[in-house]
Amino acid sequence: MSVLKITGGCSLSGSLRVQGAKNSVLPLLAASVLTEGLSVFRNCPRLSDAEATVRILRHVGCRVYGEGDALYVDASGPIRPEVPDALMRQMRSSVIFLGALLSRCGEVSLSLPGGCELGPRPVDLHLLALRSLGAEVIEAGDRICCRAGALKGGRIDLPFASVGATENAMLAAVRAAGSTVISGAAREPEIRDLQDYLRACGALVSGAGSGTIRIVGVEKLRGAEKRILPDRIAAATWLAACASAGGRIRLYDACPAHMLPVLRALERMGCAVKTGENLIVLERTGPLKSPGPIITRPHPGFPTDAQPPLMAAALRARGTTVMIETVFENRFRHVPALRSMGADIRTAGRTAIIRGVEGLHGAEVRASDLRGGAALAVAALGAEGETLLRGMEHVERGYEDMAGALTALGADARLCEEE
Ligand code: EPZ
Repeated sequence: MSVLKITGGCSLSGSLRVQGAKNSVLPLLAASVLTEGLSVFRNCPRLSDAEATVRILRHVGCRVYGEGDALYVDASGPIRPEVPDALMRQMRSSVIFLGALLSRCGEVSLSLPGGCELGPRPVDLHLLALRSLGAEVIEAGDRICCRAGALKGGRIDLPFASVGATENAMLAAVRAAGSTVISGAAREPEIRDLQDYLRACGALVSGAGSGTIRIVGVEKLRGAEKRILPDRIAAATWLAACASAGGRIRLYDACPAHMLPVLRALERMGCAVKTGENLIVLERTGPLKSPGPIITRPHPGFPTDAQPPLMAAALRARGTTVMIETVFENRFRHVPALRSMGADIRTAGRTAIIRGVEGLHGAEVRASDLRGGAALAVAALGAEGETLLRGMEHVERGYEDMAGALTALGADARLCEEE
């Protein structure tokens, strides 16, 4: 098993290219089964979740091959409307194949998805969307079977701006007969990225990013080329790392416009942040201050995925920081490990109160989930001594070569193998 060894206490300096976005490449790969042609995805991050999605694509009948940072998906052949449970359970975003396969095959059968344990993660809004387009949905235990002679356009009112349910609704509606309006839709940049790809495939879809998405169904979609947008959560993690350790870093191939609440919070903590179109430079030389209250919300609010890394950066900030997690019920699973490094954190339900401490120390810790693992790495960079971070299988789901990235930024970080 891999273990990440980090020796903290040295400030960061250097440049890093921001990887392609996990939360964009996964729904885009699922969307490719809607097309009857060859799609090319460039700037694909090397992540275990992307590999798991490729396994699903191959299982349902697609030809998939890679070249450099590009993935080629040929979905022109016959497509199978089912995914094995083991592949479904590897991650949450496998559920996006529900809308894609139902639209392509008229039926689909699969189990509930897996993914990070962040509290209950029902799929009721995904099923609401499919039922709104006329699908017959049967839920039996942890299995979902859907059938639709032909999906019909309609109105989908999402009571909560679920990212996944919005993506499933878009994939099911683009080839449905007639028009669809999705109101209360998620507004994340990844939703707009999905719209851009679907439009390149010939879909008639508009409004992504506004909360109301309009779609006029078409009979067929062709393959298309798409560059994956930069990963705003990976970028937020590297910036939090620099806030925690101190120093000056430069991130390129980034998209500052997608992560304004994170940049504002880092500025309130005393970091100097400069941005260009695809560039972010962060410098932290003086003491950290509390960013004040942080409340996670759907985009354009403060992203829940950046909550753990920013919490880790605030551990040594002067003052008290209150973090309220409104998107997931149980997203403080990284707190006990941070406490074992000397942090002062109290939690009650969805609220965490972080009192800044003078110093942190290295420890042997284990990642409980993807962003929780990132938080432990961020804390380790600001701690005295060595930290051994286990559970890297969680981290590798969303970060391409974390040890290499941190080393490029001047950290003392090494990935070691452990019996
Ligand atoms: C996406 O998950 C991201 N994953 C998550 O990133 C991210 O945290 C989340 O959106 C919110 O931004 C991918 O894009 C692959 P949701 P998703 O549906 O689609 C409730 C990471 O670390 N809900 O917007 O699963 C749900 O329980 C991951 O990269 C329902 O109640 O998120 C949750 O509390 C973690 N019923 C809230 O909505 C539903 O049918 C947000 O979920 C669907 C969701």
